Amino acid sequence: RHGREVEKLLDRMTVEEKLGQLQQLAWAWDTGPGGGGTKDVEDAARAGRLGSVLSIFGAKSTNAVQRIAVEESRLGIPLLFGLDVIHGFWTTFPIPLAQAASFDPAVTRTDAEVSAREARANGVHWTFSPMMDVTHEPRWGRVAESCGEDPYLTARFAAAKVEGYQGRDYRAKDRLAACAKHFVAYGGAEGGRDYNTVDVSESRLRNLYLPPFKAALDAGVATVMASFNTISGVPAHGNAHTLTDVLRKEWGFDGFVVSDWTGVQELVAHGFAEDGAAAARLALTAGVDMEMVSTTLREHGKQLLREGRISEHRLDEAVARILGLKFALGLFDDPYVDETAGAAVDGPTPATRGAARSAAARSLVLLKNDRAALPLEKSLASLAVVGPFADSADLLGTWVVPAAAEKYPSVKVLDAIRRAAPGAKVTYALGVDAAGEDTGGIPEAVAAARAADVTVVVVGEPPALSGEAAARADIGLPGAQEKLIEAVAATGRPFVVVLVNGRPLTVGGWLESAPAVLEAWHPGLEAGNAIADVLFGTVNPGGKLPVSFPRAVGQIPVHYNHESTGRPYAADNKYTSTYLDLPPDPQFAFGHGLSYTTFAIGEPRLSRTGIPARALRAGEAVEVSVTVTNTGAREGDEVVQLYVHDLAASITQPVRRLRGFRRVTLAAGASRTVRFRLGADDLGFWTNDPRGEFRVEEGAFDVYVGNSSTARSKRRLTVT
Ligand code: IFM
Repeated sequence: RHGREVEKLLDRMTVEEKLGQLQQLAWAWDTGPGGGGTKDVEDAARAGRLGSVLSIFGAKSTNAVQRIAVEESRLGIPLLFGLDVIHGFWTTFPIPLAQAASFDPAVTRTDAEVSAREARANGVHWTFSPMMDVTHEPRWGRVAESCGEDPYLTARFAAAKVEGYQGRDYRAKDRLAACAKHFVAYGGAEGGRDYNTVDVSESRLRNLYLPPFKAALDAGVATVMASFNTISGVPAHGNAHTLTDVLRKEWGFDGFVVSDWTGVQELVAHGFAEDGAAAARLALTAGVDMEMVSTTLREHGKQLLREGRISEHRLDEAVARILGLKFALGLFDDPYVDETAGAAVDGPTPATRGAARSAAARSLVLLKNDRAALPLEKSLASLAVVGPFADSADLLGTWVVPAAAEKYPSVKVLDAIRRAAPGAKVTYALGVDAAGEDTGGIPEAVAAARAADVTVVVVGEPPALSGEAAARADIGLPGAQEKLIEAVAATGRPFVVVLVNGRPLTVGGWLESAPAVLEAWHPGLEAGNAIADVLFGTVNPGGKLPVSFPRAVGQIPVHYNHESTGRPYAADNKYTSTYLDLPPDPQFAFGHGLSYTTFAIGEPRLSRTGIPARALRAGEAVEVSVTVTNTGAREGDEVVQLYVHDLAASITQPVRRLRGFRRVTLAAGASRTVRFRLGADDLGFWTNDPRGEFRVEEGAFDVYVGNSSTARSKRRLTVT
């Protein structure tokens, strides 16, 4: 990229200046231990010993630091400004896990487009997003930033998000360079404890964790971030197999790899490097190009070069990749951002709020709805709204730009309900506080419920309980929130439960007594409005779970795409793979979600060029078609899902794998044929060969189509 300009510049650079380009320092928002602070940044920029700054934003702040680099350093190389713009800059969209529940990649593309426009106008060039760590661990706090448990769904969302951030050319003033993170297998952290060990076979690495990264690369992602975990004993920051063999040699990635926060220095704590100098050498040699926050390359690089322990070629390569992105972003032509009042993008607009509201509403999942308890009538005479998150503006979720959290908190559920049902007498009671502490408020909530036609109970997890370094050993509702639900249930009056949370929860005994449960996740800026839209039926919910909800923590990992065992569960056989004290399946399965209308999905049909097909060969594809009909009385959305199962393979396969999905809107009584292309490649898998062997094996496959991972309708297909 920009090879000639880069080379000309490289020729003029000293070793210190080259090592400087590999250095990234944090400005004023510490997202890890011990950022150096703004003075460090300014000094390094002035000395020409800094390539990038993270956690900085705002036209004035970024321009001021940029001016130091461009006007006061010897070569005037502009700085690259990075920020965690994860699900919004000013306009906070629902958390990524919620967005995945929409099963609509357009939702995430819109988030990325809005985010890019707002962030770039505020001096940010580069976002550390999308996060694409597939995980089977609901205890892991970072499940909130992920797309859940499936590699295919995650890959589709990763590609859409990269496209949304970068557009066709991220030189444009309303686009950002994106970063595929965290490379790789971070979601496999043992026990869900953040930063923990991952021991993974080559085939699982390639079939489960790598596909979203490949999809992001195919979408043109500019950069990749290394992950904090080890991968089968070798820390990801020092892992030449993943960073060089796979990423560079196999996939041909030509962008740069940034470390995570102090990830290079942490090779010492991992017991992989004996000191900072060794950490610098191991990380650079394995394939890390830029070091975030720790300074091992800046400190030891020159000595390592002198001793021949790192090569000049490798140093130049890393610098060239970083300079290449700066050229591609247009920073050498125009390093500053327009500070004039007319150019300011200093908050959400009605249009971006509208987009966030519709994204949130599309992300809501109706988990349960007995006897059509929802939607509520807008003409209700009285409503009680109770629970710690009913009157809360803290529903943005994890990873929110600090200034946005301060200036643009969430719309409250209580306020939105009052607006949606203006004729109703709405009574509010806290019940228990946000940590779930029983502060004696339950009787007041019970009294409100007794006096109301319907009660809406809003419970969940505060955003601080999910995200980075926010693993939980118990993933139930915190504190006394279950007690609050049980007390409301005991009144015998109608009620519905709204959950706001950043991970799958164990929902406990109260589920039985709750007529309706709406999973709202952390819905972002327009939280209350989106929830009210669905509660009152202005929007018919159509989201589906991107993760399984376990029945109990002891059941983890429980996910739809588990491998076949020799003794699969059977009710009439004791000697099978299950727990004695739990049913074999999760509480709510991947892909589950209800609607206010009903749908019938017909039997799948397989054909090729219009002729029924039962077999295909390598390189061929079949069309899988199915008729979906809205059999209810109102318009609604259904997500038609396609799964496959390989009946016998040389490596044991998952019992099901998602290979397609389509969210469709149908009027009452309407039908539509949904078509999927299923290629032989969609039936193949990666073996344990570390050099990367993808196989499509002969044999029989079941092709399932339905509205969740428990779909029963299937057709047999043979690969010959
Ligand atoms: O981008 C993040 C990463 O996901 C976790 N550690 C800190 C980085 C920068 O804030």
